[in-house]
Amino acid sequence: MAELTVCAPAKINLHLEVLGLRADGFHELAMVMQSIELVDALHLAPSADGTISLRCDRPDLPVDGSNLIVRAATMLRERSGLPELGAHIRLEKRIPVGAGLAGGSSDGAAALVGLQALWGLRFSHPELLAMAAELGSDMPFCLDGGTQLCFGRGEVLEKVPPAEGDPLAVLLLKHPASSVSTPWAYGRCRELRGHAYLRDPHAFAQRREALRRSPLLAGLAGTAAMPPVRNDLQEVVEPEVASVREGLELLRRSDRPLAVAMSGSGPSLFAVFPDLDCAQAAQAALAAACTAAGFESWACAFRPRGVSLEP
Ligand code: C5P
Repeated sequence: MAELTVCAPAKINLHLEVLGLRADGFHELAMVMQSIELVDALHLAPSADGTISLRCDRPDLPVDGSNLIVRAATMLRERSGLPELGAHIRLEKRIPVGAGLAGGSSDGAAALVGLQALWGLRFSHPELLAMAAELGSDMPFCLDGGTQLCFGRGEVLEKVPPAEGDPLAVLLLKHPASSVSTPWAYGRCRELRGHAYLRDPHAFAQRREALRRSPLLAGLAGTAAMPPVRNDLQEVVEPEVASVREGLELLRRSDRPLAVAMSGSGPSLFAVFPDLDCAQAAQAALAAACTAAGFESWACAFRPRGVSLEP
């Protein structure tokens, strides 16, 4: 088969609630995740000699066996029982790295979908979701993307139907010199509020139901005002990371954002706007202040789907 291209979108967290600690060491979560139109591109070509190779236009990104693209490709080949399969993969990296935007997870999900097509495999969608869950907590969401409720450690998914009309949009800020380790953020969360963690599975079920009925979903559907975004990791990261405090302050200065928050474990920050024009206007209005404070910014619409093969 000839070369093919897969788009891998970033996500933001419109809600991130840390409910408790599980026996496997992961946290039980209740989240709303949203894909956005900030995408990496994976270009895939078959290799004749069965090697799996990865190149990237960002020289600082590891392209060895630690990269989720290589891990996903290796897992897919192992599960196929066809060790002769190989691919040359070229990654055009646009999503900031280590930013709480699931860029690496989305790249891994894109590798599963793209290589299944390139290699002519026939894994079912639930089988791909199970492989994604083995590789990373955010990866199952990235396969289908759009707007989804995500429970468990992130792999228990419930799709939210897309809203009518123009998609909402975000202005995203990230300081290039700043990054946050996800295990550190969860570890600090455990130190600060572990005593308040829920333990009873019945309590988890109640929080799941509360999120299904949350005014946030009515806000996303455009039938009610958007409530403030809750991110329990923001409470942990904001006091420790100056660029997070500065970025939130900048975004709050923009013209009537619907909500302002940190994404995932940070350090990227976002403001939600009614449409892409408003997000771009806010980007222009903050351009000088962002440059002065050293922030990079992106204005992008909400995206109704996850990874996608280019036609
Ligand atoms: O699954 P993933 O590799 O993305 O998780 C990275 C780290 O984030 C885990 O090793 C764990 O420290 C933390 N984590 C967690 N609870 C989750 C998801 C991630 O504690 N639900």
